[in-house]
Formats: sequence, C-alpha cells, structure tokens
Amino acid sequence: MIRLENVYKTYPDGTEAVKDLNLEISKGEFCVFLGPSGCGKTTSMKMINRLISLTSGKIYVDDKDIMSFNPNELRRNIGYAIQNIGLFPHLTVWENIATVPMLKKWSKQKQLDRAEELLELVGMDPSVFMYRYPSELSGGQQQRVGVARSLGADPDILLMDEPFGAIDPITRSKLQDEFLKIQAKIKKTIAFVTHDIEEAIKMGDKIALMKAGRLVQYDDPATLLTYPKDEFVRNFVGADRVLKGLRLYKAKDVMKEPPVTVKIDEDPARVKKRMEESNTKWSMVTDEKDRFIGWIASDDIKGSKSIKEIYKPPTVTAGPDTPLNEALSMMINSTIGTLAILDEDGKMLGVLSFDIIRDMLGQEESEQQKETKASGEKS
Ligand SMILES: Nc1ncnc2c1ncn2[C@@H]1O[C@H](COP(=O)(O)OP(=O)(O)O)[C@@H](O)[C@H]1O
Ligand SMILES: [Mg+2]
Repeated sequence: MIRLENVYKTYPDGTEAVKDLNLEISKGEFCVFLGPSGCGKTTSMKMINRLISLTSGKIYVDDKDIMSFNPNELRRNIGYAIQNIGLFPHLTVWENIATVPMLKKWSKQKQLDRAEELLELVGMDPSVFMYRYPSELSGGQQQRVGVARSLGADPDILLMDEPFGAIDPITRSKLQDEFLKIQAKIKKTIAFVTHDIEEAIKMGDKIALMKAGRLVQYDDPATLLTYPKDEFVRNFVGADRVLKGLRLYKAKDVMKEPPVTVKIDEDPARVKKRMEESNTKWSMVTDEKDRFIGWIASDDIKGSKSIKEIYKPPTVTAGPDTPLNEALSMMINSTIGTLAILDEDGKMLGVLSFDIIRDMLGQEESEQQKETKASGEKS
C-alpha cells in the first residue's frame, strides 16, 4: 500500500512540480499517473522511492513513513523500470536482472535461479538469453529484461515510468498484454507513469489524472471516461471517450443468445417463417456439429431448395475475450453489422450487434447515474 499526503515538490529553481498531492494506492492495485508532459508524473513517482526528495508532506509505504527507511534499503525493496530501461551494457542479461539480488548479497546460485525464473516469466528462453549482452537484444527484448530486472528481488511495489514508451506500437501493445498477464499472477502494487490515455485505460485499475502539479481526478478508467470531472479531463480523455470505454468490456460480457439459429440441413421455407416470426433479417447457420459456418438472410431464402446453397460464410468472427472496441470495428467492417462470438472449436457462444452495444452503454450510464445520486444523498 502506498499513501501520499499533502505532498509538495518545489525544485531549487522554484518550479512547483507537485502541489498538494493526496492519493492512496491499495495493495495489489495498478495505479496509472496520467497527464500531459511536465504535469509532475515522474516527480510524483520518484518521490515514492526517494529518488527525489519531498519538499513537504508525507509518503507512507505499508503505513510506514518513507523517511524512516534508509534510502538505499527503500530502493532495493521497490522495483523500478523506466523508458529505455538503462540496462548496464557491460553486464549480461542475467547479471542485469540480478542487480538488486547482488546488492542484497544473495548466493550466486540463487541469483542465477531467479534470473532464469524471471526470463521465463517475461517470455524469453533462458537458455538463449541468459548470457547475452543488451546490445544483442531487440528493443522489445531489452524492455522485457528491464521489467524482469525491476522484479529481481521480488519487491511488493513496482514503479514504472513510461516503461513501454520508446517501443514501436505493435511490440508495445504486445508488451502491455504480456505485462497484464504477469501482473494477474504477481499482483504487485504498481505506480505506472504514462502520458498515453489509451495505455492508461488498458493497464490501470485506477487512473490519477494530473494537471500542472495537481491531481484533477482519481478514478477507475470507466468512471473517468463516463464522468470526466471537468473540461480539462473531458478534453484529455477525448471526444471519443465512449469508444475508448469499449475496450474495458469483452465480447462475453455483452453478447446475447442469437435469436434464431439455423441448421444447415433445415428446410428453407420453415426457416424463413421462423425468421419472419421473430423479425430477424440475419440468422446464424451451424453445421451438424453445432459449429458456426455462416449467415443467412431471410430475403435470400425465397425459393431456394437448401440452406447450403445460399448461406454466406462469415468474413470475421470474434472470441469471448475480444475487447468490445475491436469487436465494434470488426462489425463496422462487416457487411451485416452482426458479429458471431465463437469458442476455440468454432461453436457458437453468442452474438453482438450495434443495438446490443448501444443498449449496454445506455445501461452503464443510467447505473452510474443512480450510484452517483445515491452517494450524493448519503453525504
Ligand atoms: N530537476 C529539476 N529541476 C527543475 N525543474 C524540474 C526538474 N525536474 C523536473 N522539473 C520540472 O518539473 C515539472 C514536472 O516534471 P516531471 O515530473 O518530469 O513531469 P512529467 O513526468 O509529468 O512529464 C516540469 O515543469 C519540469 O520541467
Ligand atoms: Mg515523466
């Protein structure tokens, strides 16, 4: 747990980088410091492990004032990862990862074991990479080693300053996904700095949005997107905040049972009747083994003898864990505007449509309004 109370930082030249910052990061929580360049994110983060001194206020780690620790000791117990990682070029990968374990005087064997374990955790084969030098790695691999190094001595807390900032977008997105999987396992308490709203929404349990040294809003991503506190937040999250919010949901959270499904060997005339009765224009067609094979339009049935002749194979399908923003863009690209959600074997799990997504967003909004109202009544 990390708690900042009335924290101020004024640099010697008079720059007021952080003003009256109050914030708590619960144990196991991923907190993102977000805001435009120069708003005080890095300064705030570096005060937690005393790489920068506080001008006034208090910071507590697990209810202990950070000033009561020896600064070196404090830093060794807080993992730290930054942009361009700053791996030591003259040290091998495993020695880089073992930096803190070495300082903590772990046995050589324990250091090696730990480096191996962490390389595996970040998806790099130890037998290939342990003895390489940083210059022999790609940017993405270096960044993975940087993350592994920050976890070296298994600290409870991680500070990460734009750790994926200098990486191409595709590798970056992959590293983000991988890191989220790792975090689901290791459940560290994380303070993560970024200026990228998309990254913040994707990664954070909570987002601390800062402006000119002050905390403007501290909320979970959905609340930040649905209820921006003021004009600054609204502008920062962007006019497409509803679209951005879609990434917080997965297809399986929202999909519905398909209203009508059709077996490949059914009689077309009866199918047409069923579809007209339920007022559906498109139905999902499944094969003998219940696997989804395509769509059929009631208009196309007319006098056809078999469904086989007229069904249309799908252009795209999604899985239960496809984020809703991706699902929506697949739907926009597809001719029928409806998306089949399939399991790994191609069996049908459900269906998504524009109406389903719109209804879901409407519900979210009214639920949040109720909550806001309820909490307003209490106070
Ligand atoms: N060592 C320093 N001396 C003086 N001003 C600094 C120093 N470091 C940062 N600043 C200033 O403090 C403000 C906040 O900086 P920083 O915390 O690095 O912002 P961010 O990480 O949000 O981009 C900026 O105006 C920056 O120029
Ligand atoms: Mg910074």
